[in-house]
Amino acid sequence: MRDLAGETVLLTAGPTREAIDPVRYITNRSSGKMGYAIATAAAARGAEVVLISGPVTLAPPLGVRLIMVETAAQMYNAVFAELPRATIVIKAAAVADYRPAVVASQKIKKQADDVVLHLEKTPDILAAVGRVKGSRFLVGFAAETNDVLQYGQRKLVEKNCDLLVANCVGRSGSGFESDHNEVALLARCGSIVHCESAPKTVIAERILDEIVRVRLRSRHPESSAEVLPEATVPEMS
Ligand code: PMT
Repeated sequence: MRDLAGETVLLTAGPTREAIDPVRYITNRSSGKMGYAIATAAAARGAEVVLISGPVTLAPPLGVRLIMVETAAQMYNAVFAELPRATIVIKAAAVADYRPAVVASQKIKKQADDVVLHLEKTPDILAAVGRVKGSRFLVGFAAETNDVLQYGQRKLVEKNCDLLVANCVGRSGSGFESDHNEVALLARCGSIVHCESAPKTVIAERILDEIVRVRLRSRHPESSAEVLPEATVPEMS
């Protein structure tokens, strides 16, 4: 199946690292597996794929142009450098929401019993792309421990996405680090597709299927009723 031929998919994956001092940083548990699986699947379906990745230990996906970054600011710059050519943008990265306001130039010595770290917000890359996306198809992710659908719907609208992949990250066996994931795909048109727990390679295909389905519906609304499968009812709370 080469249903993404002619598309340029710009994808982010993995965590970001925000330095505290030369030897310490803030990060999260993202392994990059979800984003790398989507990159591999999109390339196999004929897309030109640009993968902007935070620090991970995965092998570079075949047939994909890989750009490695470390911080949220570097990811922001890389995304906006590649955005002009992209037709589909998928933001699977777990970007740090906050970073140290000041990065110490030397290793912070152990002195006081407690230390206060002053954090500042990082740029919200997804929201920034949402403001200027034009005709690009924008896919955001939401990693939530509770009220997954509710927060997902909010992010879908607030960040001007066309599709939002909501995943529950509070339980073992899905979300961060796992080889499996369980997600709900929330489309701007109102449909919700629940994807039960499956390997991330399978979930990646389901996400791409839904991108193709929603894009086709928005381009040809009159033909979608016969061609497209019905959305299933979500089970996530
Ligand atoms: O990497 P794995 O171990 O395979 O795990 C996969 C995953 C759980 C990391 C992935 O499926 C996922 O949910 N990625 C998004 C994680 C996240 O940061 O969610 P969020 O709800 O905090 O952010 C919402 C969206 O805004 C995301 O698309 C994120 O990329 C984006 N964002 C967030 C903050 C920021 N400063 N800039 C952003 O672009």
